[in-house]
Amino acid sequence: MTKEFHKKPIQHPIFKLIGKTSEELGMDSYVIGGFVRDYLLNRGTPKDIDIVTIGSGIKLAQKVATKLKGNPQVSVFKNFGTAMIKHKDFELEFVGARKESYQRSSRKPIVEDGSLKDDQNRRDFTINAIALALNESNFGELLDPFNGRKDLAQKIIRTPLDPKITYSDDPLRMMRAIRFASQLDFKIELYSHQAISENKNRIKIVSKERIVDELHKILMSPKPSVGLKLLYQTGLLQLILPELIALQGIEEVEGQRHKDNFWHTLEVVDNIAKTTDNLWLRWAALLHDIGKAPTKKFSKKVGWTFHGHEYVGSKMVYKLFKRLRMPLNDKMKFVQKMVLMSSRPIILSEDYVTDSAVRRLVFDAGDYVEDLMTLCEADITTKNPRKQKKYKNNFKIVREKIVEVEERDQVRNFQPPVTGEEIMETFNLKPSKEIGVIKEAIKEAILEGEIPNEHEAAFQFMLQKAESLGLKPVSS
Ligand code: CTP
Repeated sequence: MTKEFHKKPIQHPIFKLIGKTSEELGMDSYVIGGFVRDYLLNRGTPKDIDIVTIGSGIKLAQKVATKLKGNPQVSVFKNFGTAMIKHKDFELEFVGARKESYQRSSRKPIVEDGSLKDDQNRRDFTINAIALALNESNFGELLDPFNGRKDLAQKIIRTPLDPKITYSDDPLRMMRAIRFASQLDFKIELYSHQAISENKNRIKIVSKERIVDELHKILMSPKPSVGLKLLYQTGLLQLILPELIALQGIEEVEGQRHKDNFWHTLEVVDNIAKTTDNLWLRWAALLHDIGKAPTKKFSKKVGWTFHGHEYVGSKMVYKLFKRLRMPLNDKMKFVQKMVLMSSRPIILSEDYVTDSAVRRLVFDAGDYVEDLMTLCEADITTKNPRKQKKYKNNFKIVREKIVEVEERDQVRNFQPPVTGEEIMETFNLKPSKEIGVIKEAIKEAILEGEIPNEHEAAFQFMLQKAESLGLKPVSS
């Protein structure tokens, strides 16, 4: 076979330097993995670069570092036989070729050295096992023993070895297969798909952090439903996010059916992926209906209801984040808030949109009001073109009104125009219940549009309210 060379992606002097250094050590080195894959897919060349060398990756990294400007630090992971250098915006990871697989999810040390082919064999997918040589004699030569390029062209995720071996070597790869399929819009080859279904329970030995990392990547892919469907079909979703599985299915009682909230959710996630790259807003789309399973009820009078599902759902978000060891910080609170408020704009848009309803929405959602609107627009999945048009149009009106109300009333980060101190001074009061009552009444009057959000109007309103409570201002 004629040899093929690709020098373009490795033009940067760092690659020549690595090749030269490995020659000095009597070793052969290659770039491998995502860098080569993404280059061949015309997705640009990533800054994370994996170097495999026939010999010690750690030794090579240490010697390379001495030649780089500023002598960057080498982080050595002895157990894994890897070393990492951060240089400019590059992240260079060095590993010695090995016969045994990467045990990234276990702490088992890896010792056995191997050839390039051994190493390629033990990688996850054919598309990730393509190498480019760095030594001078064969600089840029492409080494692709499993025809990964064909799989790239045909959009197939395939393991170099029997998939049972590849996935049992490292069960995280089941998630990776699905994530790559979702990111790249590839198909998982049949035997691989089967092997994932058969080995799904092994996901339990993978750390939650790694699983969540892959979930993030699936959610950030152009059409997340590709990955979510695969998680569902292989049975992994049941183990990772059972709350979503509980939404699956349509029940019918006395001829009344509700929609399948699982498939609806996937549509919502795909919709939102078209309008936002905010990972947490995408999470909110994924979880916006999870409260529907535990709150589902049927009554003859009104049919199917999911009363309070937004509140129940927002509580479930906390438990889910905790279980998956996700951050219980402002990101989680944001997702909770989105879930809690997820029906508000819909209810609003079903009717004539009043100023006061919009004012309340802006008041409650604060700075997240646009995100909430984005979520609710994505939530429109009706196949009825008339309804679809009506909702979209109403949301447009809501958005316009938000701007209008904002300009006039500024209730987004509401600061009471009359403070508690002012109330106390005016009526010579000590801290007491009345102050809260007056403040609340002023806020309500503003939200209802009875008075503008201004000091003078609020002050006059306060005097009236106080009078009805039997309070008199101290004369000035
Ligand atoms: N790899 C593997 N098994 C894993 C993880 C990684 O075989 N569980 C190998 C693959 O050859 C992969 C390379 O290590 O291409 C680098 O892994 P990583 O940096 O995690 O992923 P990339 O493939 O570079 O892709 P991305 O950056 O998109 O995650």
